[in-house]
Amino acid sequence: MAIERVLPLYTGNMARIMSGIQPTGNLHIGNYLGALVNWVKMQEQFECFYCVVDLHALTRRPAAEVLRQAVREVAIGILASGVDPERATLFVQSQVPQHSELAWVLTCMTPLGDLHRMTQFKDKSTQQPENINTGLFSYPILQTADIVLYRADRVPVGEDQEQHLELARETVRRFNGIYGDTFPEPQVVKSVAPRVLGLDGEKKMSKSLNNEIGLFESADETMQKLRGAKTDPARLRKTDPGNPEVCNIFRYHKFFTGAEQRAEIDAGCRSAALGCVDCKKLLSANLEVVKGPIRERATLLREQPKRLDEILDAGAARARAEAEATMQIVRDRVGLRQTKR
Ligand code: TRP
Repeated sequence: MAIERVLPLYTGNMARIMSGIQPTGNLHIGNYLGALVNWVKMQEQFECFYCVVDLHALTRRPAAEVLRQAVREVAIGILASGVDPERATLFVQSQVPQHSELAWVLTCMTPLGDLHRMTQFKDKSTQQPENINTGLFSYPILQTADIVLYRADRVPVGEDQEQHLELARETVRRFNGIYGDTFPEPQVVKSVAPRVLGLDGEKKMSKSLNNEIGLFESADETMQKLRGAKTDPARLRKTDPGNPEVCNIFRYHKFFTGAEQRAEIDAGCRSAALGCVDCKKLLSANLEVVKGPIRERATLLREQPKRLDEILDAGAARARAEAEATMQIVRDRVGLRQTKR
């Protein structure tokens, strides 16, 4: 077999990271804590491939213009959060056709039963009963292709994606078993905040549930939303002592407020010296320390659409070179003809 013939195969010692994010609505602090913070941190230590998964988004059948815009906005959010396109490879999935190509090959070696077990498919089928398409069902196979195309060994994802990662590992073992060692088994990297709740304090933060704190929101907009947000349900009056452990607002403080101030808030809540509105104002201010600079960088990027195009096209070119190297091995192993490109 002709692995040696196919250069440039990755031979570095640096672990390879691959992760994807859906182009949906506006980014919120759940995306930021669950994915983007990790992405930014990891680019310093590892070789990273970050992908805006527009092919996955097609399972929701968005209007073309809505999808086009969402892809740009998510890319802007990723860059504004601090992903450096010189260090990490940032690209849009559909610009690397090898994702679809490998997904088909893997589809042909995935038992139906494995996909039937996926809880996300069941969830999504309930969420969009009018559009239970085959893409929704085979979604995790495309996700596996995303990962193994770059022979990534680590994948940062939230806990809702762990089942998909397990399927990816199984697929890798199956492929390697049949065709010889080809792909490494990707490991899950847990995120700082695997599950950030929305302002309702009940469900995972999500644009579609309308319970999100947007990453690009102004401080005023955020404070407006925080005013209506649930706190300790037992704390009815300002003079009632509260319990931070059951308060969703305090949970956000854990991510955005330093230890010292957090201890003060904790004590103030328990003694009723600090009211919920003031506690929310502190949170809003601390959120703004993170969101403010991101919002400003995003505004600058929106004013330079050409520059964004260049970044994404350059990222796609790098990703394609890597993906094509992998596909040449895969075609060789499964018996497909190569095409000179
Ligand atoms: N399915 C992931 C999600 O909904 C997004 C995703 C697509 C992904 N391809 C990926 C995540 C590859 C990690 C690696 O969050």
